[in-house]
Amino acid sequence: MRSRGSGTNALRAVLSAVFAASLGVLFTQPLPAHSFTSYANDFVDPTYILAKKFGNTTTEAQSTIVQWAQTLAAQGPWSVMNKTVTPPTGNKHDYMSWAPYSWPDCSKVGNTTELTPEQIWTTCPYYTRDGLFNPDGRLINDVGEFGDLADAVLYNAIAWVLDGDAQYSANVARFVRTWFIDPDTAMNPNLDYAQMARGPNGQVGQHTGVLDLKCMAKLVSGVLILREGKAAEWTSDLDTQLTNWTTSYINWLTTAKIALEEESATNNHGTFYYNQLAALQVLVGDKDGAKQTVEKYFTTQYKWQIAGNGDQPLETARTRPYHYRAYNLAAMITNAKIGAYVGYDAWNLTTTNGTTIQSALDYAITKPAGKETASELWPNVVAVGAVYGDPDGHYAQWMRQNAGTTYPADAQFLWNQPFSDSGLVKAAASGSKSGSATNNGSTGMVAPDDNGAAALGGPWSVLAAAAAVAASTLLLS
Ligand SMILES: *[C@@H]1O[C@H](CO)[C@@H](O)[C@H](O)[C@H]1NC(C)=O
Ligand SMILES: *[C@@H]1O[C@H](CO)[C@@H](O)[C@H](O)[C@H]1NC(C)=O
Ligand SMILES: *[C@@H]1O[C@H](CO)[C@@H](O)[C@H](O)[C@H]1NC(C)=O
Ligand SMILES: *[C@@H]1O[C@H](CO)[C@@H](O)[C@H](O)[C@H]1NC(C)=O
Ligand SMILES: *[C@@H]1O[C@H](CO)[C@@H](O)[C@H](O)[C@H]1NC(C)=O
Ligand SMILES: *[C@@H]1O[C@H](CO)[C@@H](O)[C@H](O)[C@H]1NC(C)=O
Ligand SMILES: *[C@@H]1O[C@H](CO)[C@@H](O)[C@H](O)[C@H]1NC(C)=O
Repeated sequence: MRSRGSGTNALRAVLSAVFAASLGVLFTQPLPAHSFTSYANDFVDPTYILAKKFGNTTTEAQSTIVQWAQTLAAQGPWSVMNKTVTPPTGNKHDYMSWAPYSWPDCSKVGNTTELTPEQIWTTCPYYTRDGLFNPDGRLINDVGEFGDLADAVLYNAIAWVLDGDAQYSANVARFVRTWFIDPDTAMNPNLDYAQMARGPNGQVGQHTGVLDLKCMAKLVSGVLILREGKAAEWTSDLDTQLTNWTTSYINWLTTAKIALEEESATNNHGTFYYNQLAALQVLVGDKDGAKQTVEKYFTTQYKWQIAGNGDQPLETARTRPYHYRAYNLAAMITNAKIGAYVGYDAWNLTTTNGTTIQSALDYAITKPAGKETASELWPNVVAVGAVYGDPDGHYAQWMRQNAGTTYPADAQFLWNQPFSDSGLVKAAASGSKSGSATNNGSTGMVAPDDNGAAALGGPWSVLAAAAAVAASTLLLS
């Protein structure tokens, strides 16, 4: 499933307000429009970000990241205590969500107009309508809040590197403390009530719910950036406490019955399980464990996930094949990126049918999105082009045709490099920081400037970028 929290609507409201206040700026100065997108998952190598050797075509992506960091931060902090429904334990510190595609059938339970929602949840049998989200799941938004937290941590950590302002690292510390550490607001380290089944025999979490915290890979990327970058706000005390929490949670993730069921899921659920576990092992300093985790994925599930023609049959069989192919690709790419970080090279590993992650992408880009969300595939195209190369420029051309002329302003364009900007990024005006950058030959890299803040043109451009983001969000809604 692809969960968007209520935070998205709030975010839109904020952006709309900024947009309204900035119309003049927008119309006098065309700037890249870039709507906020929550990628299915990703792992961003902290050493790449901290080296600050960004190519000069990534300036718009950098602006986007700082903008997303600010708009997300305005929505935090997040906490499992915010939900209005209490888990079966009576303890809101327990994470909770309902099975997203699960619907009640009250036809045999008498006069349903007399049932309260609470009675429906426990009385009516529930059945699954794959791909069809039951909107009452929004009553409990732990999954959406965690998604927003993971994005906020990732973008604020990168913004701290790009901009150097301690407000961003302070945001990360505050958000992590609220979700994981502060006794009043912390989540208990288990997913016993994730994607809960409802009905007369329900009220228990299911293995599919382990997917809810897949974005740990993004969150860990952000934490590693602050830890390795020695951000003052990321104190050793906080680091120790998060490591302690994570150690408990890893214990749950590697021993609980539903966690182990998720580990052996053959489709995207299994792939994402490894994203989460490997990232958390990196967080607690267990690189060997992370390596074994990634290796396990690439020697088990992966072997049978990609057919000879690049199709992913387990995903194509679902109700939203374009989504699920892109979704599992994101998870495969994330596993390979974590692998690269811990010294396990998975990019060229072949399935039983001799195919690779690139084969899966090459198949996916031949299929139209139809009524599904086209943008879900875009980060995968850029990631694959960056890793495997794009000598004839066909991935860049696909992006230009499908994602449009603003694709180099997408946040992930910063870390999926080298990838051509198709000449779309305009050189900054002379006198600005990036204007003085020099191209480093075939790598396309530029020498970092003093604080790495290439081409962030101050509050004015940030405001304009927000307006552009808002405009694009409104148009796409
Ligand atoms: C969620 O909980 C945190 C921590 O208590 C709080 O600061 C925040 O305002 C809450 N958010 C919402 C939307 O209620
Ligand atoms: C169901 O209960 C409501 C409220 O008591 C009543 O108005 C309605 O007539 C009942 N419907 C049926 C089909 O019994
Ligand atoms: C470590 O984590 C456990 C589980 O979350 C918690 O009960 C304990 O208080 C933590 N200990 C420290 C020293 O933070
Ligand atoms: C891989 O090839 C074998 C036959 O060689 C076939 O039976 C199997 O279904 C293929 N795997 C996938 C995922 O398509
Ligand atoms: C895959 O293997 C080929 C041949 O050894 C190599 O040239 C290429 O760099 C590898 N690709 C990746 C993404 O590791
Ligand atoms: C990047 O540097 C190259 C070489 O100096 C230059 O041709 C190009 O215009 C620059 N692009 C941007 C976006 O600044
Ligand atoms: C250019 O990049 C290469 C490869 O990353 C590096 O070895 C070299 O030192 C760089 N040169 C300059 C001038 O930055």
